[in-house]
Amino acid sequence: MVTPGKKVKTFTIDGKDVSGTEDQTVIEVCRENNIEIPTLCHLDGLTEVGACRLCLVEIKGSNKLLPACVTKVAEGMEVLTASDRLKNYRIKILELFFSERNHICSVCVSNGICELQNLGQKLGMTHVHYPYLFPKVNVDASHERFVLDHNRCILCTRCVRVCDEIEGAHTWDIMGRGIESMVITDLNKPWGDSDSCTSCGKCIAVCPTGALVEKYKNAVDKTSKYKKDKLKFLPYLTTMREVKNEQS
Ligand code: SF4
Ligand code: SF4
Ligand code: FES
Repeated sequence: MVTPGKKVKTFTIDGKDVSGTEDQTVIEVCRENNIEIPTLCHLDGLTEVGACRLCLVEIKGSNKLLPACVTKVAEGMEVLTASDRLKNYRIKILELFFSERNHICSVCVSNGICELQNLGQKLGMTHVHYPYLFPKVNVDASHERFVLDHNRCILCTRCVRVCDEIEGAHTWDIMGRGIESMVITDLNKPWGDSDSCTSCGKCIAVCPTGALVEKYKNAVDKTSKYKKDKLKFLPYLTTMREVKNEQS
């Protein structure tokens, strides 16, 4: 979508001539042109963090692979989204996600609707070549309605962003570094003791895996109030806020 007042850049994606405004990212232009790129940390309506690296693309002239969700378009750039090199990297990235925590899909409440599992199937991941780390991590079931299972967390930070940017509660955060990183509530209190959590359930709806789920419900349960299709308002809300900020 052309943003008024912004310069238009023309370039190619997989050999196709495309255009976008200077404030757009490669992934936005890909989506507008029905060019599919796998994503996990990206969610329409939330800020981009470039955490999962699944959306990596090749750009002619750069010896690095760049994440499409945080790379702005530029005049004359030549983007490749589906080379064999990228396909191999994406499968390796998925395998690393699986091996980092304890992902046993057959006994997971998100089996069948998990974005990580779906991407594994879609991108042709057949097995995990890396040794599983099997870390000993907790399940926090202290909240009266929701459960956090660190075993399934891929640290995409969607929960952190939706809670801060949309609900305005900022209950979630990330603690630690590298492989020790964990999502936490408040200052690492049990979730049930959190003073800031409003129990809105937005974090449950955005979580791509079985890490954040409703208690006593299988994630495929159609009666759940916390489904991703209930979050289609997020981009609209973000746009309205931007317009309001520009006007004030
Ligand atoms: S979170 Fe997804 S990938 Fe992980 S065990 Fe559950 S269904 Fe499988
Ligand atoms: S709990 Fe879910 S939404 Fe939050 S960082 Fe982990 S995987 Fe992402
Ligand atoms: S979607 Fe781009 S890095 Fe995760």
